[in-house]
Amino acid sequence: MKLFVDSAHVPDIERLAPLGIIDGVTTNPSLLAREQGDPDAILKAICTLVGGPVSAEVVSTEADEMVLEGQRLAGIDPHIVVKVPFGRAGIRACRALTEQGIRVNVTLVFSPAQALLAAKVGAAYVSPFIGRLDDISTSGMELVSQIMDIFDKHEFATEVLVASVRGPLHVVDAAAMGADICTCPAKVIDALFEHPLTDIGLRKFLADWERAQAAKV
Ligand code: E4P
Repeated sequence: MKLFVDSAHVPDIERLAPLGIIDGVTTNPSLLAREQGDPDAILKAICTLVGGPVSAEVVSTEADEMVLEGQRLAGIDPHIVVKVPFGRAGIRACRALTEQGIRVNVTLVFSPAQALLAAKVGAAYVSPFIGRLDDISTSGMELVSQIMDIFDKHEFATEVLVASVRGPLHVVDAAAMGADICTCPAKVIDALFEHPLTDIGLRKFLADWERAQAAKV
């Protein structure tokens, strides 16, 4: 499973990219709005750091405008994937951009029916928002399972990008289910490293080693 960082904060990417575990980045207007500076320059910097797909979302609401904005975003860097919100306009824009060879991530997907429509217009990725579903007492992972089942049966090439991830269990569940990609806030990626028994085990190894060295002198 590919691991993306869900962030527009360049220091997050600078810190995580050297670990060698990051395959791409997703941003959205809310994440970019939190950052200082020119959004295009931020996207360019992220593309350079990660060297993989970087989703940049349109803020237009009409299909034709989404296409123009998507073309402009795609011009920032070859790694840019244009993110469009699900809806009639987004679906039309997805088809048009895909026909021009621009990869599209259809976002704000909350049902298998929406994922099916996105796949039919050639979306490179669909982003089911699992945390926001869990927040309203609906199983986000069940949605991922349904989408994967439909894509498998109909041999859609669209990749399932699990989004709105809240913690390490979402990541593990997505991996166990065979999802293509999971995009995580930096703090969730940090949490994947943590286990108290690893810390206790390492402390004991080092203490035993120090004691043995001291006994030899
Ligand atoms: C994905 O592409 C979105 O940017 C993101 O996962 C949304 O997550 P949120 O529900 O935590 O805002």
